[in-house]
Amino acid sequence: MATKYEKLQDELKKSPARWLVTGVAGFIGSNLLETLLKLNQQVVGLDNFSTGFQHNLDQVRELVGKDQWQRFSFVEADIRKLADCRSACAGIDYVLHQAALGSVPRSIDDPILTNENNLSGFLNMLVAARDAEVKRFVYAASSSTYGDHPGLPKEEDKIGRPLSPYAVTKYVNELYADVFARTYGFKCIGLRYFNIFGRRQDPNGAYAAVMPKWFAALIRGEELFINGDGETSRDFCYIDNCVQANLLAAVSFDEAALNQVYNVAFGERTSLNELFLLIRERVAEVVKEAAKQEPEYHDFRPGDVRHSLADISKAKNLLGYEPQFSVRAGLDQAAAWYIEHLR
Ligand SMILES: NC(=O)c1ccc[n+]([C@@H]2O[C@H](COP(=O)([O-])OP(=O)(O)OC[C@H]3O[C@@H](n4cnc5c(N)ncnc54)[C@H](O)[C@@H]3O)[C@@H](O)[C@H]2O)c1
Repeated sequence: MATKYEKLQDELKKSPARWLVTGVAGFIGSNLLETLLKLNQQVVGLDNFSTGFQHNLDQVRELVGKDQWQRFSFVEADIRKLADCRSACAGIDYVLHQAALGSVPRSIDDPILTNENNLSGFLNMLVAARDAEVKRFVYAASSSTYGDHPGLPKEEDKIGRPLSPYAVTKYVNELYADVFARTYGFKCIGLRYFNIFGRRQDPNGAYAAVMPKWFAALIRGEELFINGDGETSRDFCYIDNCVQANLLAAVSFDEAALNQVYNVAFGERTSLNELFLLIRERVAEVVKEAAKQEPEYHDFRPGDVRHSLADISKAKNLLGYEPQFSVRAGLDQAAAWYIEHLR
């Protein structure tokens, strides 16, 4: 029997809508763009290239057909400017809001910059989308909102105190979305992403996520390190599962599903030590020397939570979310992509 997502994809192909993807030149945004264009949707993409890249857009252009690429229009713009948000939202049915400055350490280094992008920018987008009367506003929330709550697996309504400025901004996004829903009847859904990984996640720079950083180091034969003892664990989630959650959240017409936040994860915990071995094994199949590489162990990083594991039953029940890629299956895909692009 076809899944809810498969049915949704068939329906979308028959009836194109107008989508706005903010942060479209970034990792998750460019993957949303790729899927939407393959489904024959009209997409406006907004980005200021602060952490996103033209090469991500170029890669999507190569992957989709010429006709599909013509359905895309890009605006280089900044969500910190309300006027930019307003012009991007004009005539849009569904907004997938991804633009923000990621990274806990970056927010600790520069909380003001993180706040301007993630909070003021978010509020601008809410106001612009509300005034443009979009059908749905789906936004990237974060598992960092669980903060110091010790419970595992994480359930949406049990959160602790935020552990970083980044986590504060992502939590306040949820509060604003909730207030917009109750005050203006605005229809929004927040997706608390848990360590998303896969093609086009940037391996470079001081604030790169662990997975692309390790792929790059193993492929290039560079030193790599683990923060802490390696027993810190995360619920790593392959990008295609995240794309699925976004599309289901955007077009779900179940009233009970609206104005809620959902965990977006696979629902399995992997320690950093395990992750290192899984990545090394895959890279070593092609880059033989990688088999000999060992990580160094550094101090724990401030602001990091020790363990993270999601309960994904809410997204399964209310959105019909069924993640199709396990961590291992996602790593197979990611390894092939990083080896092709970084070698
Ligand atoms: N990757 C993850 O595991 C993860 C986990 C939790 C939450 N998130 C959230 O998901 C979203 C996307 O993350 P990503 O991993 O794709 O990061 P990314 O850095 O690859 O993408 C973010 C994009 O937003 C753009 N951007 C940033 N500030 C902007 C601004 N002021 N105006 C216009 N564009 C701007 C960047 O240039 C970039 O292209 C972010 O909101 C992030 O906080 C990601």
